[in-house]
Order: sequence, then structure tokens, then C-alpha cells
Amino acid sequence: MQDPPTSYSRQGRSSLPAGPIKIRIEQLHKQFNAMPVLRGVDLDVPEGCLYGLIGPGASGKSVLLKMISGLMRPEHGRVLVEGRDVHAMTELDLATFRLKFGMLFQNNALFDYMTVGENIAFPLRRLFDLSEDEIAARVADRLKVVSLPGYEDRMPSGLSGGQKKRVGVARATVTQGEIVLYDEPAAGLDPVTSQRIFELLRAEQRAAGSTVIMVSSDLDRLLTVTDRVGMLYRGRLIFDGTTAEAKSSDDPRVKQFVHGLTEGPL
Ligand SMILES: Nc1ncnc2c1ncn2[C@@H]1O[C@H](COP(=O)(O)OP(=O)(O)OP(=O)(O)O)[C@@H](O)[C@H]1O
Ligand SMILES: [Mg+2]
Repeated sequence: MQDPPTSYSRQGRSSLPAGPIKIRIEQLHKQFNAMPVLRGVDLDVPEGCLYGLIGPGASGKSVLLKMISGLMRPEHGRVLVEGRDVHAMTELDLATFRLKFGMLFQNNALFDYMTVGENIAFPLRRLFDLSEDEIAARVADRLKVVSLPGYEDRMPSGLSGGQKKRVGVARATVTQGEIVLYDEPAAGLDPVTSQRIFELLRAEQRAAGSTVIMVSSDLDRLLTVTDRVGMLYRGRLIFDGTTAEAKSSDDPRVKQFVHGLTEGPL
């Protein structure tokens, strides 16, 4: 198969990331119990882009994120990160490759039996060989960034939903991954906390220059921070464009979804 092109052909907006393609998805197929979920998804995410992935419930957004990080295998198709096929790597290569990633899962699984500090330190301990002082410093820094300074010794069971989400954000960004995948980072939070989380993630992404894919059903807030947007529908990516293009799309499915209209084809 052809090598991916090394640069991204942008569509006329100079402020948008137009670097090399960081993540390329080619013809991904996945089904569960003979029910197709992804039926040939193609997608390019340029380096340094905050990409918003949208689509109705059960359209395969979480499945797609798991495939990008190598956690779930497709039946067909490829995921290329910096041109390398994620699902063709050896276990050892995959372990090294995962150093590039941070991930916040939709169910936000903090380990209940670990303190907040240990939860955040977990990927650091697993992936790097750092001194205890270094780990403590990085954890403290992350807690400060998510406005929970000094929370190291708390237990997750004693935190509110929003505080747990913020600990999840701290954990997803502690390894300073070049790529961070966020699945519903603000679901179930009050509007003010949600907005803060989106702004925090955007600021973190800008500061680190990382490539981010963010799934959220809170479209109003999501679209305030995205560079590009893709919409999954019935197993395919039916839209891919800039945030402005998503907002002004004439595709009745995109229009209905983005503007939250009850009348329409969905
Ligand atoms: N491990 C699995 N085993 C069986 N079916 C699965 C599995 N994971 C996902 N599915 C199915 O695949 C479909 C897509 O699931 P996915 O979680 O990706 O949806 P989603 O777009 O993230 O939805 P939501 O917005 O509700 O989070 C669903 O029908 C789901 O039931
Ligand atoms: Mg999901």
C-alpha cells in the first residue's frame, strides 16, 4: 500500500494546524456479533490538531478511540501513527508506542483502592523509570493544573463526579503524550465545570503541541475548542472539516446533529 502523504492539504484557513499527518485511519471495519459498527472509516488527523469526533450514541466513537490506541483490533483496515501500522506492531513495539499516548476513558475508571496521587502516578510508574521525587513532583504539578492541589492522599470514593473527571484528566496528561484521546471528558458535569474542563484541555493541548482527539456529546462546548470535526454515522465518517465548516454544513444529518434539531433525517 502507498505511504501516506507527509503533509496535510489544508482548506484555506491559515490559523489551523497544517502539519504532517499524525494519525491516519484507513478503511477501518469492526463488527460485534455480526452487527457492523464501523464500515470503512477513513480519517486523517494533522499533528497539533484538536479533532472533535461526534456522532449519535452507539455510532462507534469509543470503539474508534480504542482502535487508535491499539487496545482493540479492527477486522479490516489500518491505523497509522506517524506512518506506522499500530496493529502490525510486536507487543514490545506496541508498549513503546503507547508512551506516545494519553487516554481518558469514557467510564473514567479510577482505581478505587488507590489514592488520587497513586492513580495519577500509575501510567508514569508503568511506562517510565523515574525517582519517587520526580513522580511526586509530576503528580503535584498535574493536580495543580486541574485545580486540585494537595489532593494526593484523598481516595476517589470521597470525590465528586467533577473532581474524579479532573483526576482522570491529570492522569491522561501526566505522561505528556504526543497524542491524547479524550472520551467524554466532561459528561455529567455542571455547565461551569464542563466549560472549565474543555478550556483546560485546550490550553494543555496548545501548551504541549499535542495531537488530540476528543469525543463529546456536548457539542456547543466541544466546538468552542476544536480545530477540526468529524462525524460518524451508520459506520462511516460522513463529515470531516474545520469547525466553521461543521457549523455551516448543508448536509442535513450534520446540520441536525450540530444544531440539535428535532426535525431531520436522524
Ligand atoms: N466490546 C464490545 N462487545 C460488543 N459490542 C460492543 C463492544 N464495544 C462496543 N460495542 C457495540 O458497538 C457499538 C458502538 O459502541 P461505542 O461504545 O463505540 O459507541 P459510542 O459512539 O461511543 O456511543 P456513546 O455516545 O453512547 O458513548 C454499540 O452498539 C456497542 O454496543
Ligand atoms: Mg462512547
